Amino acid sequence: MKILITGSNGQLGRELVNQLESINQSIKQVKYDILPTTRDDLDISNQANVDSFITYNKPDVIINCAAYTKVDACEDNIETSYKINSLGARNLAIASKKVNAKLVHISTDYVFNGISKYPYKEDNKTEPNSVYGKSKLMGEKFVEQFSHKYFILRTAWLYGDGNNFVKTMIKFSKQNKEVNVVDDQFGSPTSTVDLAKVIINIMETENYGVYHATCEGECSWYDFAKKIFELKNIDIKVNPIKSKDFKSKTQRPQYSVLDNFMLKLIGLNSFRRWEESIEEYLKKYDIMI
Ligand SMILES: NC(=O)c1ccc[n+]([C@@H]2O[C@H](COP(=O)([O-])OP(=O)(O)OC[C@H]3O[C@@H](n4cnc5c(N)ncnc54)[C@H](OP(=O)(O)O)[C@@H]3O)[C@@H](O)[C@H]2O)c1
Repeated sequence: MKILITGSNGQLGRELVNQLESINQSIKQVKYDILPTTRDDLDISNQANVDSFITYNKPDVIINCAAYTKVDACEDNIETSYKINSLGARNLAIASKKVNAKLVHISTDYVFNGISKYPYKEDNKTEPNSVYGKSKLMGEKFVEQFSHKYFILRTAWLYGDGNNFVKTMIKFSKQNKEVNVVDDQFGSPTSTVDLAKVIINIMETENYGVYHATCEGECSWYDFAKKIFELKNIDIKVNPIKSKDFKSKTQRPQYSVLDNFMLKLIGLNSFRRWEESIEEYLKKYDIMI
């Protein structure tokens, strides 16, 4: 099975390549013919580039891990956000249909407005507040419109091999004795390890559709920071603050917990609790941080 991965230098892309290679190694054969691509080989916002690359390589599955993920920068760079997050997804969707490939597209909790009191299910109303969320939602719509065999997986609070909240907190703790973290935004920290596993399992099936894909359980950014410092035995004072006191260009969802309802229905919800996944991550990446 030929698997094309876009954005393979990003957090999720790297983990997917690792897991697919490990599967090949463990069964001592090339079950997955992996084609990792970066922006240099395949710029998803360039339709001609996407079309020629995909029609030439004819993958069986395309996993789109490429995105413009800097949410604050999206507010200033609206065109870039839409070019990558919306048109990029459209370009891949059109090309995937031409070669009859399945398309796994990754989306976000930011498609919701965050005012719910209950975890969002897949059919809840989308209403993004930010440029990032709006551009990602348009990407989802293009995928639904132009791909005939798609999986859209909405994830959140992702961490893996790359820049993320966990590394920011640990780096910050090296030079500071206290840190302010918001305690009124809730979500589910999600490990790329858990997400990549679900992607690999679902892409083998024909359970096409929209899925919520986050680790189980929920917490605030404050709770998450406390947990990271506790697990790393870092002595730092964590001060809870409110979102209104945290300067940000982006209106972030207050409550963006996602219910993996559809994954549970098809029996593929292998996500662990967020506390378990972060513990494993901090052990694994001890040297790198
Ligand atoms: N990180 C989170 O907390 C989070 C939360 C919810 C959903 N998600 C979604 O999860 C997915 C994976 O996120 P991630 O954290 O792995 O992102 P990431 O680490 O920022 O990686 C994104 C990758 O996309 C590449 N890219 C950007 N524009 C491109 C283009 N035009 N063509 C090809 N590649 C391009 C980037 O390359 P450069 O380095 O060259 O820019 C980068 O390697 C994304 O769809 C994201 O929207 C992430």
